[in-house]
Amino acid sequence: MKTIAIYPGSFDPITLGHLSILNRAAALFDEVHLMVVHNPNKKVLFSIAERVSLCNKALLEVQAASNIIVDELSSGLLVDKAQELGAQAFIKGFRTSADIEYELPMAQVNRDLSCVETIFLPAEPGYGYVSSSLVKEVLALNGDVSGYVTPNVASALKEKLK
Ligand code: PNS
Repeated sequence: MKTIAIYPGSFDPITLGHLSILNRAAALFDEVHLMVVHNPNKKVLFSIAERVSLCNKALLEVQAASNIIVDELSSGLLVDKAQELGAQAFIKGFRTSADIEYELPMAQVNRDLSCVETIFLPAEPGYGYVSSSLVKEVLALNGDVSGYVTPNVASALKEKLK
């Protein structure tokens, strides 16, 4: 049986922390879908199409594993997408206990609605403090974000925040 996982999120934009989790997930599953999701609770900088394009570029830039597929979910439940793809698991990265507090109810509801489990991978220590929102804030204040995102993502952010 082909093992398939979904790594969902807003990815506004994708960071090196996300890419690290993705590559590690790709070593555990036959196929990993990086799912760019429309989250109506979040005010985003990039459209879903822009985020998908940045994810594809970032994967090429870091020479990510070839079993990672960029996908999008602009409406509907994640569990329905998982069933459509035949995915057995969702992957979530966590940095601190605050992430677990945010993620745990989603993992529980997703399991309640379907048989899809959520697997949590701890952030690599070097990326433990990297988040899309902090990257946007640092760049908006003219800081250097080269340690947190790929060059293409940094250029897209600079262009957007001009
Ligand atoms: O990066 P984010 O925005 O914190 O990720 C949250 C996301 C997009 C994974 C979550 O909002 C989600 O799964 N949305 C899809 C709709 C859905 O299935 N909602 C029920 C979640 S229990």
